[in-house]
Amino acid sequence: MRILLFSGKGGVGKTSLAAATGLQLARLGYRTLVMSVDPAHSLADAFDMEDGLFHGQTSDPCVINDRLAILEVNIQKEIKRHWREISSYIISVLRTTGISEVEAEELAILPGMEELSAMMYVNQFRREARYQVIVLDCAPTAESLRFVSMPTTLDWYMKHIFPYQRGLLKAVRPIANKVSPVQLPPDSYFANVADLFGRLEGIPDLLEDPRITSVRLVTNPEKMVLRETQRAFVYFSLHGLTVDGIVVNRVLPEAVTDAYFEEWRASQARVMAEIESYFAPVPVKRVPLFTHEVLGGERLEELARALYAEDEDPSTVNRTDPPYTFEKIDGLYLVRLRLPFAAKGEVGLFKKGDELVVEIGTLRRHIGLPTSMASLTPTRAKLENKVLTVEMKEV
Ligand SMILES: Nc1ncnc2c1ncn2[C@@H]1O[C@H](COP(=O)(O)OP(=O)(O)O)[C@@H](O)[C@H]1O
Ligand SMILES: [Mg+2]
Repeated sequence: MRILLFSGKGGVGKTSLAAATGLQLARLGYRTLVMSVDPAHSLADAFDMEDGLFHGQTSDPCVINDRLAILEVNIQKEIKRHWREISSYIISVLRTTGISEVEAEELAILPGMEELSAMMYVNQFRREARYQVIVLDCAPTAESLRFVSMPTTLDWYMKHIFPYQRGLLKAVRPIANKVSPVQLPPDSYFANVADLFGRLEGIPDLLEDPRITSVRLVTNPEKMVLRETQRAFVYFSLHGLTVDGIVVNRVLPEAVTDAYFEEWRASQARVMAEIESYFAPVPVKRVPLFTHEVLGGERLEELARALYAEDEDPSTVNRTDPPYTFEKIDGLYLVRLRLPFAAKGEVGLFKKGDELVVEIGTLRRHIGLPTSMASLTPTRAKLENKVLTVEMKEV
């Protein structure tokens, strides 16, 4: 199975491009699902489906043609379904602080729940082998970054905190419930957490395998949009995902010669040049600004033709070099990490238990070290050709 994840700033064209990609894949014979993970769904709108017929009404994919289906995940329903125990515990804790039930309910929706709920679908479809390609139409960049970092976070929680916390609670609950003002979570809470974890099992491996998951970043030829695209590129790399394509959408076509657009043309050309050099060797595609909105099957087909050659397969893996590798050279242990735009001063490194922690700005990535390297300490780091090499030594 292949997962193509379309991400980028709000309004750049993710939904349109994801939908067009779905059409192209289906035309080439793949059983394809385009799934919207953005709570502000517009996937059904892109296909110009009648309002109310579909939007979040069903958790069954909606058939577009023989091989193509689309799905808008109803986040509220999913949260109720999967997070009931967890939410009700959080609500009960919040209630003890004196805030209202309604407020507590709002606050109990934790960041990441939406993304995790969507990932449960991906996992379910994978187990059922229902689709050959799943195209994910993601929420704007910040949220989709949360999407990809959640499994790592959850994985870490389950490994490091959960077993300990659960055992401890079994021992202390009889006493604690008598003296503590806050109720400790009931056993059903842990059953719920364990069930959730089961549903998410294997997701980090799926996302981090470049032969399965490819991130396609969508951008516009504008400086501000490009900055966000660059940040996204770093963060996806940090989280072990492989960006194997950039799509620059809404490029002014040659045919537009009106003086009004002269400045736009010049600045777009500058930003295009910047994009090509920054993202190399990641292939960059261009899509022109159309004379109209991209709405309905026919226009999506037209977009697909602008994006792909007649027989071009969007599920082709463009890059497989892993975002980080472990090596041993001349007795020296090395961790290599691709960090496309990180400047030297911004990178922080330290060890925590058997993990190497890399910090870039406010972002932190825990890299689980192989057993052979777990007892080593980072001694030197150098950034060269966009690759951060960390030397690990016995100290
Ligand atoms: N190349 C293009 N030319 C003209 N309009 C476009 C183009 N790409 C997208 N649009 C339009 O721009 C709007 C936003 O696109 P959308 O795909 O919904 O963006 P996103 O999902 O990133 O928020 C939609 O109305 C869409 O039809
Ligand atoms: Mg969208």
